[in-house]
Amino acid sequence: PMITYTDDTGESRTINATVGDSVMETAVRNGVPGIVAECGGSLSCATCHVFVDESQFGTLPPMEAMEDEMLWGAAEDRQDTSRLCCQIKVTDGMNLHVTTPHTQV
Ligand code: FES
Repeated sequence: PMITYTDDTGESRTINATVGDSVMETAVRNGVPGIVAECGGSLSCATCHVFVDESQFGTLPPMEAMEDEMLWGAAEDRQDTSRLCCQIKVTDGMNLHVTTPHTQV
């Protein structure tokens, strides 16, 4: 599976991800900037906010109510394609593109 992260300056990094990891863990393990993930994936920080490519947003499993609630507290205003990427699991054959916000804190 491949995950491409584009930062707010337009620079992209594509990572060969491991099935079962989250999109947040994949970024942190590979030194991808733009994702802070202060809480380590326990859905209590909203510093793993990403904007999912519009054409792919609907292909992801829908978010839980708690993630939806936490997104209102993200440092950069949420958009229709916002997710907290600790809640997105890498799946077999995934080819996902996300953009990281200007700031996470
Ligand atoms: Fe804290 Fe995702 S890492 S909410």
